[in-house]
Amino acid sequence: MKLIDARKDQYRRLAHEQGFRSRAAYKLKELNQSYRLIGPGFYVLDLGCAPGGWSQMAAKLTGNQGKVMGIDLSYVEEIPNVHLLQADIEDEFVIEEIMEYFGRKVNAVICDLSPKVSGNWSVDHAKQISLNYDCTKIMDQVLANKGNAVFKVFDGEYSMEFRDYIKKKFARINLTKPKASRKQSSELYLVCMGFTG
Ligand SMILES: C[S@@+](CC[C@H](N)C(=O)[O-])C[C@H]1O[C@@H](n2cnc3c(N)ncnc32)[C@H](O)[C@@H]1O
Repeated sequence: MKLIDARKDQYRRLAHEQGFRSRAAYKLKELNQSYRLIGPGFYVLDLGCAPGGWSQMAAKLTGNQGKVMGIDLSYVEEIPNVHLLQADIEDEFVIEEIMEYFGRKVNAVICDLSPKVSGNWSVDHAKQISLNYDCTKIMDQVLANKGNAVFKVFDGEYSMEFRDYIKKKFARINLTKPKASRKQSSELYLVCMGFTG
């Protein structure tokens, strides 16, 4: 994005004004307004959380009675009321850490993972979808019955296969693009409500 476009970007400006670390926070806010993925008191697991916009927003939505844990390969600066773990979600020990922190299954798993983009769209798309399958391995073990989830999806060849895979695990799903997601970006969000396992 050119600097001049960034200045015009209302979500970036809003994030700066309201103390959110990324404009992405508004994607989660908007998705939550439409679908109520996260409510007060929820336990929320944020996979691929750096720099922390979604975790900040999740902490705001869950309030004092909730718990939020964010995991990322990258270091994330401390966020009030969020437990952070620097780790690869593909590592098996991560599930133990999650269960140890929450002490019970979570109400929502939110996944905004992106691989380091190479510029080769089919490679980046395949890697992003593969990260989502890794998230589902974690989700299957930590998400409570009737819990909710959201996955970023780089739209492409394997998106519908992933959607069909997820569809079997939830009562309702919806593929959507929040306004805060840039029009030129091919990302979509798969909102999943009512985990059935
Ligand atoms: C688009 S950013 C997330 C933005 C975040 N939702 C926010 O609001 O600030 C995607 C993140 O996925 C992380 N990621 C990619 N592969 C990962 C992996 N295997 N394990 C953990 N994090 C990963 C990247 O490090 C990157 O920080």
